[in-house]
Amino acid sequence: MSPENTGPAAVIVLAAGAGTRMKSRTPKILHEIGGRSLVGHALHAARTIRPQELALVVRHERDLVAAHIAALDPDALIVDQDEVPGTGRAVEAALAALDARGPLTGTVVVTYGDVPLLTGELLAELVATHEADGNAVTVLTAVLDDAAGYGRILRAADGTVTGIREHKDATDAERGIREINSGIYAFDAAVLRDSLVHVTTDNAQGEKYLTDVLGLARAVGGRVAAVLTADRWQVEGANDRVQLSALGAEHNRRTVEAWMRAGVTVVDPATTWIDSTVTLDEDVRLLPNTQLHGATTVARDAVVGPDTTLTDVHVGEGAKVIRTHGSGSTIGANSSVGPFTYLRPGTVLGDTGKIGAFYETKNVTIGRGSKLSHLGYAGDAEIGEDTNIGCGNITANYDGEKKHRTVIGSGVRTGSNTVFVAPVQVGDGAYSGAGAVIRRDVPAGALALSLAKQRNAEGWVVANRPGTLSAALAESAGSRDGTPSSSSTPASTEEG
Ligand code: UD1
Ligand code: MG
Repeated sequence: MSPENTGPAAVIVLAAGAGTRMKSRTPKILHEIGGRSLVGHALHAARTIRPQELALVVRHERDLVAAHIAALDPDALIVDQDEVPGTGRAVEAALAALDARGPLTGTVVVTYGDVPLLTGELLAELVATHEADGNAVTVLTAVLDDAAGYGRILRAADGTVTGIREHKDATDAERGIREINSGIYAFDAAVLRDSLVHVTTDNAQGEKYLTDVLGLARAVGGRVAAVLTADRWQVEGANDRVQLSALGAEHNRRTVEAWMRAGVTVVDPATTWIDSTVTLDEDVRLLPNTQLHGATTVARDAVVGPDTTLTDVHVGEGAKVIRTHGSGSTIGANSSVGPFTYLRPGTVLGDTGKIGAFYETKNVTIGRGSKLSHLGYAGDAEIGEDTNIGCGNITANYDGEKKHRTVIGSGVRTGSNTVFVAPVQVGDGAYSGAGAVIRRDVPAGALALSLAKQRNAEGWVVANRPGTLSAALAESAGSRDGTPSSSSTPASTEEG
């Protein structure tokens, strides 16, 4: 046992079922709420109680599920269930695989891969009660208004739990019982092992029921008890997309509430979605319609939203991110992004910088205090400090085959509509004129101009667009200030 794994001997997560009601090509337990797969939530809860061993039983879409689990939790033992159906058979398979690594003693917890709101805290309470009372089996139960479909908890007159009856095997009187089996239990390993040997498939569904272990444990003098939770969400499984959505909404409600209790202002919890994997500091403010996904972090005093979606984005202290769609990016402290900004992966904005309206960025490092205020694209580029990129600037980074880099120094001022034809470098303190197309490197301190001379064909409108509003206005402007406006052979003036 490693020093950090001081919890029960094992947690076994059952995940072999087909999940046909999802009507999906994706295995049910790989569907996500709150930024984690259903089985990811189950693993997270299981790991919270620090089991010495963690096993998952798989069968349906075995390879897909096993690969997903291995990626999330490489230490988890993946166990294949054979053709014999039933929760009892699934646990039997897991127990055999775990015993092969060294016989289990002590407490074995069983949970499901499709019950995403179960918390480690409730599992810990189940284990604590189980061990403190010296039980052979402790089952987690809930009282539901509509218990149809669930196994019902059978109790003696004195309240002692005597067993579980599956809905399909129950009498009408038993179907009236509203206390249900969540399918989550703590077992004594030896009782579980010995009982499963005697579980048969002699029931309405022809399955090996794990629930039969309760009666068998009592028959050999074991104590069987229940922990009744008032929080029905924690025992609810996702069987179809309607339940998935309801569980997702409730999960989010809980996540948002927890962040508010931790000091985050959430103006509109109903339209704010926060993944389990997001981290927020105190005094962050989230405005309506904000979605924070993945490994996103937001530092103190930052304001995010309204209408912002960030995935794997780090928002620095005091930054403002307004109407932005971003992923894989870092936003420096006290900087500002948005509105209407698209941050693609690899965007790194320095402290006190700005990426303003209608900007798209990708794979660009922007130094402290630099500003890209309006209308442009910056990709595969490096921009120094305190540089001002003018309106409408573009890095032309793609030659049709390869991407090239643009390197712009510090203290640079670029004119509106400058195009950087990469690969190209602009030195510190350089300027560019409006409309410059930068094809050659610009030395430090130079003004880069690439202008074609402007020619004015005077009188052209009156000559070529007679009868239009423009022509009429041109004529009256001409008679006012004496400039030629109606010449049939227009004069041409050029820049000197
Ligand atoms: C089971 C319980 C029932 C309980 C209900 C709670 C039994 C016999 N019945 O019923 O008392 O109220 O859960 O949801 O245990 N699984 C496997 N291998 C199998 C069969 C199932 O791993 O052969 C897994 C499924 O993936 C699922 C869980 O076990 O995660 C429950 O299976 P399910 O078929 O939903 O059991 P229920 O009949 O609903
Ligand atoms: Mg079920």
